[in-house]
Amino acid sequence: MKKSSLMLCVFVLSAFVFSQSLYSQAKYTGVKTCSACHRGEKGKNVFEKWQSSAHSKAFETLKSDKSKEIAKKMGISDPASSDKCLTCHVTNGGNGAGIKKEEGVTCESCHGAGSEYKAMNVMKDHDLAVKKGLILGKNNPDLCKKCHNPKSPTYKPFDFAKKMAMIKH
Ligand code: HEC
Ligand code: HEC
Ligand code: HEC
Ligand code: HEC
Repeated sequence: MKKSSLMLCVFVLSAFVFSQSLYSQAKYTGVKTCSACHRGEKGKNVFEKWQSSAHSKAFETLKSDKSKEIAKKMGISDPASSDKCLTCHVTNGGNGAGIKKEEGVTCESCHGAGSEYKAMNVMKDHDLAVKKGLILGKNNPDLCKKCHNPKSPTYKPFDFAKKMAMIKH
């Protein structure tokens, strides 16, 4: 290969890597950001439905006696600060500037980090929103099974249709 074409290859490859990293720059924003538009009657009470679901209490659960008992058997002293529990009980395992542990399993656990799609003009354009990281997950049990799987110490067999109905919003 000639030196100039090798340089071209290197350029194309690094441009590709750079563009990929731009897409992965989406940051977590927290429930407050989403609920600004998705709450109340106008927002179809999406926030309120999430708030009354188990997902909003997932971090709180790690402070319960039951959690401490489970953790003890696994040699974990504090479940609320162990990655072994946070990985499923908090969005992105609690890692990321916009993550508040107390919010538990938030909108962005399922819909993807929102910094790039949260603007009104993007939100109203489904294809653009998806391009900017929105995940809708219709009829996709895999979205749930990244947490609802046998690695959960309290695992119960996961019936997608039934569980989906329980968090409908
Ligand atoms: C500035 C207001 C605003 C903010 C902030 C916002 N949304 Fe939206 N969102 C909308 C509007 C408006 C729609 C379109 C609703 C419609 O067409 O019925 C929408 C649609 C959606 C949809 C459905 C998309 C589709 O194409 O079917 C999802 C999922 C969603 N938003 C999740 C989120 C999440 C998660 C956040 C927080 C990271 C968020 N939204 C923040 C206004 C907002
Ligand atoms: C980021 C991890 C995560 C994802 C993704 C996730 N869940 Fe959960 N889910 C949890 C945790 C943790 C709990 C337990 C919360 C508690 O009780 O404190 C839970 C509890 C629930 C519950 C109530 C308990 C039960 O099993 O009946 C339902 C229903 C549920 N999830 C449905 C879903 C559905 C449907 C999806 C996919 C659309 C989903 N979850 C995706 C982590 C997750
Ligand atoms: C446990 C995963 C999960 C969580 C948490 C979650 N969603 Fe969703 N959401 C879904 C799935 C899956 C769908 C697609 C529903 C379907 O199959 O019809 C959806 C649908 C939606 C829609 C589109 C409804 C429609 O059909 O027009 C909006 C808007 C939305 N979610 C916003 C939010 C917001 C805002 C939050 C946080 C307050 C949130 N979601 C939390 C999984 C989740
Ligand atoms: C692989 C993901 C995952 C991990 C890791 C995980 N959990 Fe969970 N946890 C879940 C899900 C999903 C639920 C709700 C459904 C279920 O129990 O299967 C749940 C539910 C619970 C519940 C409520 C059970 C009930 O119904 O009373 C407790 C307590 C709990 N987890 C504690 C812990 C502790 C403590 C750890 C760390 C040692 C941990 N979990 C690690 C996913 C996980």
